[in-house]
Amino acid sequence: MATIVPLPTRRATIRLARAVAAALLPGDLLILAGDLGAGKTFFTRALCRALGVPSAEPITSPTFTLVHEHAGKLPIAHADLYRIADEDELAHLGLRDRRGEGAVLVVEWGAPYAAALGGDALSVTFEVRADGTRRARIEADGARSATLLAAVSKGLGMSA
Ligand SMILES: Nc1ncnc2c1ncn2[C@@H]1O[C@H](COP(=O)(O)OP(=O)(O)OP(=O)(O)O)[C@@H](O)[C@H]1O
Ligand SMILES: [Mg+2]
Repeated sequence: MATIVPLPTRRATIRLARAVAAALLPGDLLILAGDLGAGKTFFTRALCRALGVPSAEPITSPTFTLVHEHAGKLPIAHADLYRIADEDELAHLGLRDRRGEGAVLVVEWGAPYAAALGGDALSVTFEVRADGTRRARIEADGARSATLLAAVSKGLGMSA
């Protein structure tokens, strides 16, 4: 069961990010999917701001560095796995350990690695249709992510 959130404006994406931020707990895993330019980094930036990362700190795509760490109300490890080849390379990044230590993992292009990152992910897929319409498809794949999704839906004023 997926929850669909229309994202007609950047502000709508910010509102979604705020609802997610308000419901996050240490060790949560967010998988961000969607094509190039779909809004994964934009969402992450809004999420980090909502978690109190100072506006002077840039939140950019960790395309080459692979992981950026940010400190807000919770520690955030922001990864972009577009360029990694396999789970061996993933293991070197230490993301699963960061999760165990209580960091929230926000992982662009992470869909193939949800299980390797410990599973129970909240997946947010940003879709941009041919007419330019944007929306997010949000799915949970475990008990904690289902609770998180219910809290996000409630925060957005949608029925879960
Ligand atoms: N409703 C919207 N929500 C999010 N971003 C939007 C929206 N409308 C327009 N945009 C624009 O779309 C772009 C999204 O770029 P962003 O870098 O977040 O994509 P990405 O999914 O991270 O791409 P990549 O796969 O290259 O990392 C931004 O320039 C943003 O301003
Ligand atoms: Mg990006």
